[in-house]
Amino acid sequence: MHSSVTVIDHPLVQHKLTVLRDRDTSTAKFRDVLRELSTLLAYEVTRDLPLTTRSVDTPLAHMAEAPTLEGKKLCFVSILRAGNGLLEGMLELIPTARVGHVGLYRDHKTLQPVEYYYKMPAAIDERRIVVVDPMLATGHSAAAAVSRIKEDGARDIRFLCLVASPEGVATFQETHPDVPVYTAVVDEGLNEKAYIVPGLGDAGDRMYGTK
Ligand code: URA
Repeated sequence: MHSSVTVIDHPLVQHKLTVLRDRDTSTAKFRDVLRELSTLLAYEVTRDLPLTTRSVDTPLAHMAEAPTLEGKKLCFVSILRAGNGLLEGMLELIPTARVGHVGLYRDHKTLQPVEYYYKMPAAIDERRIVVVDPMLATGHSAAAAVSRIKEDGARDIRFLCLVASPEGVATFQETHPDVPVYTAVVDEGLNEKAYIVPGLGDAGDRMYGTK
């Protein structure tokens, strides 16, 4: 079994993604557009949140059964550092969500991801978790981050990115066949330095103006 991959092909998402891909887009504009994009992505990743009903009095009538969120607790988990670029817009849409952070680096000798930061809200086993990272490149950090939160009991998990590579999607799906992937696009592939091509460069560097 493979997890599903949902490509969010809404015209606004695709337009804004092209702005981010443009090498001439400034750091300030990159951050702004990424925040806007993340709101649109959050809208799609929460499409199947369970609804219940409650009664409400409109200015005109009583409504016995008006839809309202069932109250499944949400938690966004950012893979540092680029994941943070998606958080702000998602929290604008869902301000009650909790936030966790996972920091991983790749050990040059073993090539394995090593955890340097980990902080989660309580009861992640009861929450719907959306793990976020703009780029799903090799898929190793995303897979490691999801394995780590599963160790803590997380079960209801989605992975959300902006640009994925076919290699990253395959690795992630093999490791976590139960975790659906949401992305705005699956690009051509990885180059020799594991950057996504055509991609948008290093998301963290573009976002924070570092190199
Ligand atoms: N991380 C990035 O930020 N960009 C890539 O292309 C690959 C990994």
